[in-house]
Amino acid sequence: MSRSQATVAVRHGLATDSQFGAVVPPLVLSTNFTFDGLGGRRRYDYTRSGNPTRDLLAEALAELEGGVAAVVTATGMAAVTLVLHLVPRGGLVVAPHDGYGGTWRLLQALAKKGLFELVLADLTDPAARGGAVVAADRALADELAWWANCLGLTGAPFDSYLTLRGVRTLAARLRLHEENAARVASLLAGSEVVERLHWPGLATHPTHALARKQQRGFGAMLSFELPALPGAAEAFVDGLRCFTLAESLGGVESLIAHPATMTHAAMTPEARAAAGISDQLLRLSIGIDGAEDLEADLRAALDRVARLKPSADSEASEDPAAPSASSAASCRAACSAAPR
Ligand SMILES: Cc1ncc(COP(=O)(O)O)c(C=O)c1O
Repeated sequence: MSRSQATVAVRHGLATDSQFGAVVPPLVLSTNFTFDGLGGRRRYDYTRSGNPTRDLLAEALAELEGGVAAVVTATGMAAVTLVLHLVPRGGLVVAPHDGYGGTWRLLQALAKKGLFELVLADLTDPAARGGAVVAADRALADELAWWANCLGLTGAPFDSYLTLRGVRTLAARLRLHEENAARVASLLAGSEVVERLHWPGLATHPTHALARKQQRGFGAMLSFELPALPGAAEAFVDGLRCFTLAESLGGVESLIAHPATMTHAAMTPEARAAAGISDQLLRLSIGIDGAEDLEADLRAALDRVARLKPSADSEASEDPAAPSASSAASCRAACSAAPR
C-alpha cells in the first residue's frame, strides 16, 4: 500500500528495535563496531562508512524524494562537494547564478583551479535549464556512498537523529510556515514602502505558474526590497522583536537576513547584481510563530522605514529606529527581546 509523504515521514523506522522494542529507534552513537571474528564483517563496521541512525534518516529521505538511496552528509557544503566529485576533470558544471553564496564561492574556487568549466545561468530562463542529477539508480547511489566515505563527508549520528525527529513533524510544521508566509506576503504586498516583493505564491511572480505546477505549496522564504534611502535596512531591522537577524532558512523561528552582507557576501558585487541581490534586499524566513505577532512586528518595521522618506512629515526627525508604540508593544509582549 502506498503511503502519503506525511505518513512516511512520521513512521519511517518506528517499532523496528529488536533489542528493547523501543517505538522510536535508539540513537547509535558508536564510532565503530565489533567484527564477528576474523573476516566476520557485520552490517556496520565503522560510523564514517555506515551508521544505523544515519541510515534510517537516509532511507526516509530517499523514500520521500522518490530515489533509491540517499547519502547523508555533515553539511550542505559537504553535499555540494560530494556531487562535484562525480564531475570528470575538465567537465562542465551548470549552476544557478543566484544560488547560495557559499556554493558560488566553492564553484568559483574549483573552476579557477581548472577542475571543471563553470557556467552560471539564470535557470528561470527555459533555454538555459539543463537536467538534474537525482540518485534514482543504484549505481549512482553506490558511487555517491563510495565518495562520501572516501572523503569523510558523512553526517554525524546525533545530527541524523535530530534531523529524522524533525522530519517526522515536517508536514505539520510546513503547513503553518506556509500559512504564515502567505499572511506576511499579503501584508508586504500592501505596503507602499516595499518596492519589490519576491515570493512564488504571488500571482504576479514571474514563476508563479511553474511553482503551482511543481510544488504543493509556495514555501516560507520571501524577500523584498526597501527604497534606496540611507539607513532603510537598519531602520527595518533594528527594533524587530519576532525576527532574529541571522542566516539560514529551516528553523521554526522567524529570521531576517541582509543577503548582500550575510548569505551572499562571498559573491562579488557584480555577481550579486547579476543575481538580483541588491543592497536594499532583505530576506525573511517565516517561522511558525503566531501570525498576528509577525504582522505587528513587520508593520512597526515598515512604519520606521516610512518615517525616513523625505516626503514624510515632522516625524522624520524622530529616531528612525524607534518602533511604533502600539504594534511593537503588542509584539514585545508575545516574543522575547531581540538578541542585540
Ligand atoms: C541552498 C544552500 N546550499 C548549501 C548551503 C550550505 O549549507 P551548510 O551551511 O550546511 O554547509 C546552504 C546554507 O544555507 C544553502 O542555503
